[in-house]
Amino acid sequence: MERIVEVEKISFDEEQDEITLRPSCWDEYIGQKQIKKNLRVFIEAAKKRDESLDHVLFFGPPGLGKTTLANLISTEMNTNIKTTAAPMIEKSGDLAAILTNLDEGDILFIDEIHRLSPAIEEILYPAMEDFRLDIIIGSGPAAQTIKLDLPRFTLIGATTRAGMISSPLRDRFGMHFRLNFYSCDELAEIIKRASVKLNCISGEEASFETSRRSRGTPRIALRLLKRIRDYAEVENEPKIVLERAKYALDELGVDVEGFDELDKRFLELLIQAKGRPMGLGTIAATLSEDEGTIEDVVEPYLIANGYIEKTARGRIATNKSYEHFRLTPKDKSSLFD
Ligand code: ADE
Repeated sequence: MERIVEVEKISFDEEQDEITLRPSCWDEYIGQKQIKKNLRVFIEAAKKRDESLDHVLFFGPPGLGKTTLANLISTEMNTNIKTTAAPMIEKSGDLAAILTNLDEGDILFIDEIHRLSPAIEEILYPAMEDFRLDIIIGSGPAAQTIKLDLPRFTLIGATTRAGMISSPLRDRFGMHFRLNFYSCDELAEIIKRASVKLNCISGEEASFETSRRSRGTPRIALRLLKRIRDYAEVENEPKIVLERAKYALDELGVDVEGFDELDKRFLELLIQAKGRPMGLGTIAATLSEDEGTIEDVVEPYLIANGYIEKTARGRIATNKSYEHFRLTPKDKSSLFD
């Protein structure tokens, strides 16, 4: 079954909705306070100097707004943004075509930047550093390098895996920002504002309940809001009240902590291991899931909120996980015997 709390896969319709619901200026942008504060200063300074903004790298779990921030930067800098994802750039010609089509000051947003091939990265280095494109024509002793000047552009890279970016590439970004999970208050505010745009006012308590179950992630919060709106619509309720939100969230299989079936199976597996660390490969194979999904999508929220710990020998469930399933850590030895 499709996960309602899935953050990585995003449908075309959902992408369009995200664009509509996206904040259009800093004042509308909620959360990530320190990042916002820093970016506002750097943007203002670049504008004052009439320069392009230094290259920016965003990293953090999916759904926290890396694309949203890239779009806001382009709005605030009054520049165009061209968006692509690393898997789309297969050949050096693909990147050369993108770079030569940029105008002065444009922003190039590359999502999943950790997936660029080493050959493509090599082309990106002089482009980022010296705004120069080195094209090699021919091969062997007759090979020639043609150097093309590029407009001064800003590269914004986004990745869920900071550790997988090569250090030469990482070092060429002048700013690095780690996006954090949102607090419940921040998510509740995002939900309330989005509900107005969706013509389905979400009440104070309903918004807070939805935010508590959104795994600290705006993309999940907005998806849940739209499903709750459906339940309210069918009941002819113009305003979403707490009971309707709770009912809808329960029906959607999202529990009080925002855990869905996959989270629960994951935690139960670790609990069944009775405190023995379990490796990522074993977990993924047992749950029939991809290792990347476990590591990028499922684990970050559980780690950030203290439900699991990552040790050198593997993952273990913490006391908080036992409590969530109404077990005590004492049960560790007798559990599932
Ligand atoms: N929609 C998605 N993310 C948002 C945010 N951080 N602030 C306001 N609206 C949003």
